[in-house]
Amino acid sequence: MTATAQTPLVPDLAALQQRAAQRAAERAGGQDRLRGHIVCDGLVRIFKTEGVEVVALQGLDLVIDRGELVAIVGASGSGKSTLLNILSGLDTPTAGIARVADYDLLSLSAKRRLSYRRELVGFVWQQTGRNLLPYLTALENVELPMQLAGKRSRRARRERARELLDMVGVGYCADRRPGQLSGGEQQRCAVAVAVANDPEVLFADEPTGELDEATGAEVFGALRTINAELGVTIVVVTHDHAVATQVRRTVAIRDGRTASEVRRTARVGADGNTELVSEEYAVLDRTGRMQLPAAFVDALSLRDRVRLDLEPDHVQVRPGDRASDGQEERA
Ligand SMILES: Nc1ncnc2c1ncn2[C@@H]1O[C@H](COP(=O)(O)OP(=O)(O)OP(=O)(O)O)[C@@H](O)[C@H]1O
Ligand SMILES: [Mg+2]
Repeated sequence: MTATAQTPLVPDLAALQQRAAQRAAERAGGQDRLRGHIVCDGLVRIFKTEGVEVVALQGLDLVIDRGELVAIVGASGSGKSTLLNILSGLDTPTAGIARVADYDLLSLSAKRRLSYRRELVGFVWQQTGRNLLPYLTALENVELPMQLAGKRSRRARRERARELLDMVGVGYCADRRPGQLSGGEQQRCAVAVAVANDPEVLFADEPTGELDEATGAEVFGALRTINAELGVTIVVVTHDHAVATQVRRTVAIRDGRTASEVRRTARVGADGNTELVSEEYAVLDRTGRMQLPAAFVDALSLRDRVRLDLEPDHVQVRPGDRASDGQEERA
């Protein structure tokens, strides 16, 4: 499935992505260490409540490179928050592999889990009220995590807090309390708070869920800038499929598994103009399984089993019509 669109976002996105990769490479100590900053392989999370088992993640595979900005989309209940809670160290998986940087999230000791959450990870919640302390100004909110970490001088903290607020476009809000900010301004401050201690990865669970589309786009703009300027790897969960226009890689989760991906790449067309090409990919897991998009299944009324044919450069999938199967067997 290929769709092309000409948008002024193109050079912007490509340039930002390039800068993010550069910054990430600097942090990682070379291009060769960029691969697989976040790795999930056959990740399983089963919840047991009152004897009932819910399989929230059923063998999820995902690799995110250092410096990437990835959106995770999927229907309600598909396992997005479960995945993010595991990756941010709030929850422990039942089985499989979940690794972020050098941290194996299945076997973290309590001490290492604490250091993981304090030093490696930043988090932005959907509920604006959960991200900021109401009695502190925006500037003080950004200073607080640095103060708790006790690493910078008072003056250096203030300077960095101002710098971060400017970076996410809300420098003018520095002296206001959250109650005096719009939802979008609060979420952009929350992004500044989350990266105050220079985390390697930033997770955001529906950060634009309570915002309208235009305000949500501003928050995504802030995430893109942070990604480009600081080289932080960012994973954003959202309900909103239109988010694919805001990032270069969107991963869709269905029933606790990664089902498909959309990647946007800039190409120079025949007329010399740069255009943005979106391509949708199905995800093939380690054992060769893939999920057909629901629209394809419906269009050909595919059911139960399908016929596969290997062609020189592609694989054909056709309805496995039982009546004709029988005839061929008899022939
Ligand atoms: N603590 C829990 N105990 C039992 N079941 C849970 C728990 N957390 C999640 N689940 C179940 O796991 C599945 C995945 O939930 P999850 O919250 O990850 O979905 P989601 O994709 O984030 O949905 P939404 O878009 O509504 O936020 C759901 O069926 C949910 O009911
Ligand atoms: Mg959720």
